[in-house]
Amino acid sequence: MKIAVLPGDGIGQEVTQAAVRVLEALDLPGLSLEWADVGATAYRAHGHPLPPATLELARGADAILFGAVGDFDCDHLERHLRPEQAILGLRSELTLFANLRPATLFAGLEGMSALRPEIARQIDLVIVRELNGDVYFGDKAIETLPDGERRGWDMMSYTESEVRRIAHVAFRAAQGRKGRLCSVDKANVLETSQLWRDVVIEVAKEYPDVTLNHMYVDNAAMQLVKNPGQFDVVVTGNLFGDILSDQASMCVGSIGLLASAALGERQTEYGTFGLYEPIHGSAPDIAGQGKANPMATILSAAMLLRHSLGLAEQADRIETAVSGALADGVLGLDLGGEAGTREIGDAVIARL
Ligand code: NAI
Ligand code: MG
Repeated sequence: MKIAVLPGDGIGQEVTQAAVRVLEALDLPGLSLEWADVGATAYRAHGHPLPPATLELARGADAILFGAVGDFDCDHLERHLRPEQAILGLRSELTLFANLRPATLFAGLEGMSALRPEIARQIDLVIVRELNGDVYFGDKAIETLPDGERRGWDMMSYTESEVRRIAHVAFRAAQGRKGRLCSVDKANVLETSQLWRDVVIEVAKEYPDVTLNHMYVDNAAMQLVKNPGQFDVVVTGNLFGDILSDQASMCVGSIGLLASAALGERQTEYGTFGLYEPIHGSAPDIAGQGKANPMATILSAAMLLRHSLGLAEQADRIETAVSGALADGVLGLDLGGEAGTREIGDAVIARL
């Protein structure tokens, strides 16, 4: 089992190191970790944020553990040399089209949610966001019309096969949870959404054990804060998913706790190939000070074990250790506490 470890820059370095210590503490037989530069560290060492050697290492691994990129010192660089291009490049080059973002409230953190505690406590959902299509990748332009007025446009499109492959990921996720899937679209107005809905209904026939419902995206945004307990797995396109996944994650707490997976179709010997990363960035404001909360990256490593290496039990162990540490008041800066990166890593390892 080979994990490509790409810490990146800023706090990416520190939080990845903590997650690697947790993986090493599990002492998994046959696990090898191989490091490579990415982001600003790669630009400084090799002149490119995603050097060919890093991409090759990532391609040849069973899974990728990614920290964060985005050093502000690179803001003056041309867009294709900026650190953020590394993560976008990895997602598209490796066809990682399914973004999984779980949102669950940890015990004792009710006060961190923007919602009332009794509502926040109900949240236990996963958003499955499509990552390789939609308006982000369609034709786009700002053009000048004959009368001199400018017009901007972005083409929203999905092919049947793009919808089908993300639908399968979502149905399988629902099978492994409470068996409910909500597909979010805007089929009352958009043709893209109508096709989306038709294909999801077609795919549903292969999953008779999953209960499917459909919801318009505006209503879904409302329901997420009104009655989030109704959701188990939510599947949606790139644009709607971008917005809803940020909304859902902030309903349960802090940026330092939220993990994510980007999965493709490729199966390895052990599970589904994927890239795992905290949802936060490289936080240049606190980088190098040992203050970053590594829990989001540690929880991303747990997702890696579950989805890419077939080690669900070990993933559960990590998640239990993290929630135990939180329940015991081991709180990072982002949660109003004082525990540093090393101390939080130690606290998790002690509870394994
Ligand atoms: P950010 O997520 O890096 O930081 C936002 C705020 O949250 C900062 O005050 C930071 O100190 C705090 N914070 C973030 N993670 C934390 C943690 N683990 N523990 C404690 N506090 C934490 O977002 P920001 O400042 O907008 O972006 C910084 C750079 O990161 C930018 O260049 C951006 O493009 C990049 N970025 C990279 C991402 C990635 O690598 N996938 C994702 C988001 C942003
Ligand atoms: Mg976003």
